Amino acid sequence: MGFIKHIPGTNPIPKLERDPRALGLGVIGLHEGRTLLLAMDRTSRIYPIAGCDLNPDKIQACRDVLPDLFYTSDYAAMLASPDVKVVGIYTPDSLHAEHITLAFEAGKDVICTKPVVNSLDDARRILEVGRRTGRRLMVGQSTRFFEPFRRQRAAFDRGELGHIELLDAHYIHRMDWYYQKSPWVASATDWVFLGMSHPIDLLCWYLGPIRSVSASCYQSELGKAHQLASPDVYIVNAIAESGRIGRAMGHYGCHELPAARNCIELMLYGTKTTSLAQYHDMRYVYAAPDGTEVMEDHLYAGRQYYFNSEVHGMHYGEFANYAEYFAQAILEGKPNSPDLEEGVRTLCVMEAVRRSAKEGRTVEVEDITRR
Ligand SMILES: NC(=O)c1ccc[n+]([C@@H]2O[C@H](COP(=O)([O-])OP(=O)(O)OC[C@H]3O[C@@H](n4cnc5c(N)ncnc54)[C@H](O)[C@@H]3O)[C@@H](O)[C@H]2O)c1
Repeated sequence: MGFIKHIPGTNPIPKLERDPRALGLGVIGLHEGRTLLLAMDRTSRIYPIAGCDLNPDKIQACRDVLPDLFYTSDYAAMLASPDVKVVGIYTPDSLHAEHITLAFEAGKDVICTKPVVNSLDDARRILEVGRRTGRRLMVGQSTRFFEPFRRQRAAFDRGELGHIELLDAHYIHRMDWYYQKSPWVASATDWVFLGMSHPIDLLCWYLGPIRSVSASCYQSELGKAHQLASPDVYIVNAIAESGRIGRAMGHYGCHELPAARNCIELMLYGTKTTSLAQYHDMRYVYAAPDGTEVMEDHLYAGRQYYFNSEVHGMHYGEFANYAEYFAQAILEGKPNSPDLEEGVRTLCVMEAVRRSAKEGRTVEVEDITRR
């Protein structure tokens, strides 16, 4: 018999005292980046200073809700501000390498949304400048920082799942609205770096270094109608260097999902138990040691923190969680994950998936990382 566990809520969002050492944040790209700036009412070690966008409407939309920040369309002007210690990068994927490079060269640490970059040339470039300048980077892998996934990971770290023998992750989302909002998504990247960055990161996070991938892809009717440059359906079988196996799947041209499924799900099959984390419904479900199925439902307790009070909304809580975590790591001189090197290793797995699907063969990830 199962039961639902009620989780104490975060309504209203607790007002945190600002740490006197808190780091100033400047953000470039004010669509998703606006969410990060607004989420700073949930953090104590990092606070908003500045916003940058080429589009005056995006600046105005941000100014309407955060009137006291410094706004500019000139990235160099934002980087020149000594108060900006951390730069958040939320521009189109193919611009991330340029914006990371300029931030590192200006002596800033960086939060870069996923995917950190979307080509091997860009990966080489940011690794070189990161190692040379010694600046730090945090990849904004939002799913890791969403409540059910945090709780699932904490249970794994406490040893409650045992070893993971099989992992099954997906991110499935009808995306025609995105092509209208951001045409670069249809023309200037590949869904393997966009949507698939979520399940592939989860795969790498739990299985460790990936040895090889065997992937297939397809382009949906909806993708064809939008003249997509890339496939929008992917399925990947991966083998880790440890021998453990997992699967990642994505479909971005599908019809709406039935309510029984969530767009991101991570199913872990461990030697001690199994568990499932879900986005957006904010559920974490697992088999307790006595066999009882426990469903933790965080949606109403967590919706103000994670979704700004909508039932299903934007990524406020996840962005706040990773920004606060990164600021704490900087202030305390501790490592953060995923950092630059880890982000690039995961990018190599995504590139291996892209090649495997395109060429119809198994690809060794080592062949890519060696380059
Ligand atoms: N779950 C997540 O973490 C998540 C969700 C969605 C998008 N993303 C990522 O966030 C990034 C942005 O996605 P989006 O949906 O907000 O895209 P978008 O196209 O809506 O917004 C990009 C913004 O960047 C601005 N911009 C472009 N070039 C610029 C430049 N040189 N200088 C200043 N501003 C510039 C544009 O004017 C636009 O406002 C992408 O990398 C995407 O993959 C992450």
